[in-house]
Amino acid sequence: MTDHAPKKLFIKTYGCQMNVYDSERMAEALGGRGYVETQVAEEADMILLNTCHIREKAAEKVYSELGRLKPLKAEKPDLKIGVAGCVAQAEGEEIMRRQPLVDLVVGPQSYHRLPAMDAALATGGKALDTDFPAEDKFSGLAARPRAQRGPTAFLTVQEGCDKFCAFCVVPYTRGAEVSRPAERVVDEARALVEAGVREITLLGQNVNAYHGHEGGLAGLVRTLAAIDGLERIRYTTSHPNDMDDALIAAHGDCPELMPYLHLPVQSGSDRILKAMNRKHTAEAYLRLIERLRDARPDLALSGDFIVGFPGETEADFADTMGLVEAVGYAQAYSFKYSTRPGTPAAEKPQLPGDVMSDRLARLQALLKAQQTAAQEAMVGREVGVLFEKPGRLPGQMVGRSDHLCAVHVEAPEALKGEIARVRITASAPNSLAGTLA
Ligand code: SAH
Ligand code: SF4
Ligand code: F3S
Repeated sequence: MTDHAPKKLFIKTYGCQMNVYDSERMAEALGGRGYVETQVAEEADMILLNTCHIREKAAEKVYSELGRLKPLKAEKPDLKIGVAGCVAQAEGEEIMRRQPLVDLVVGPQSYHRLPAMDAALATGGKALDTDFPAEDKFSGLAARPRAQRGPTAFLTVQEGCDKFCAFCVVPYTRGAEVSRPAERVVDEARALVEAGVREITLLGQNVNAYHGHEGGLAGLVRTLAAIDGLERIRYTTSHPNDMDDALIAAHGDCPELMPYLHLPVQSGSDRILKAMNRKHTAEAYLRLIERLRDARPDLALSGDFIVGFPGETEADFADTMGLVEAVGYAQAYSFKYSTRPGTPAAEKPQLPGDVMSDRLARLQALLKAQQTAAQEAMVGREVGVLFEKPGRLPGQMVGRSDHLCAVHVEAPEALKGEIARVRITASAPNSLAGTLA
């Protein structure tokens, strides 16, 4: 390899969609240093793990992955290995102590400094930056390249969390709630649409706390909806307490805003919600769902649940099952409570593992049954599908319905990036099948 050959960057992304977005931006930032992305770790000059700290298993995965990189580094001493994301933020220098092959540690709020950090590595040192800098990371990043893109994209509009749920590390790894100015978001959305994007998912740890636009997130959604060529808008993740009247109204009368909402509640027990510091009751959540469904009757709901939070009794768990029954989710994520060092709940006595496993199995069976019912209810109906890529079978395309369900359809590849009407003919475990209407 000559000095002028591009250097290769391999990024592995864990955790939430915000990390997916950050990984793209990190690759773009390092593009300015001559890196191009590769999908093959063995040929990389730099490997970056963009990590998640949300549950114990997620954090441990990072250390086992780093262990697996040892032979590669031994073979290729110039290979740079970096840890980014929420584990980087939470553990900082400790990562380099525990795994000396790590050259670089960069937190989620400081990755605009990656080019300078890479320059420091070139002189043989190590680089660490886990500041929450006063300057805005986004204005420190170069403009996004204009390359053609697929039909869907993520766009981070809000970061951080001030809610401090008793179980959660996010307020510590991502810092305080910050909203990006609307003009920046709109510029970025326009550029994405010019590059072929038809659907944008607005991202934030508490995206509906967005306040960079008059009228909050609803105001931003309406401004974005006016962009020619932007056909669909989604947002995630939202908190029940930040769901305002304007956003509920937007679900009713903004056709670009898709009828799908991820609105985590975590538990159906008021006692546990209080211990979790969620600052709302189960009843308040159910009332909110009712108002949203009044505005948009076909709204598909998704949620997050934690079972086995410290102190959760069988009666508390029954309340969670009752809430799930009352809502009827189209889709949901559920987790066993995981102790996170430094969070208030970590101080409390923990429930036995088998109790958690048993509750998780019961909850997941109910959620799965609801998902199946929601999908089966679509059979025979016509939906809009945005085609994203070829399917596994020849002549097949895959896209997403308004309700974010994957749909497999026999369709020409020319439909990529187009929204077509599709009649749903069958429901499979995690997707639908249909024919062009
Ligand atoms: N900001 C979002 C999501 C944050 S993390 C929100 O408020 O909803 C995504 C999900 O991970 C959470 O909704 C929660 O269900 C789960 N989670 C967070 N901390 C956890 C922990 N310590 N143990 C188990 N699950 C956890
Ligand atoms: Fe974590 Fe709660 Fe903030 Fe969501 S709202 S990121 S669960 S602290
Ligand atoms: Fe994980 Fe950080 Fe996202 S902890 S869920 S990557 S905000």
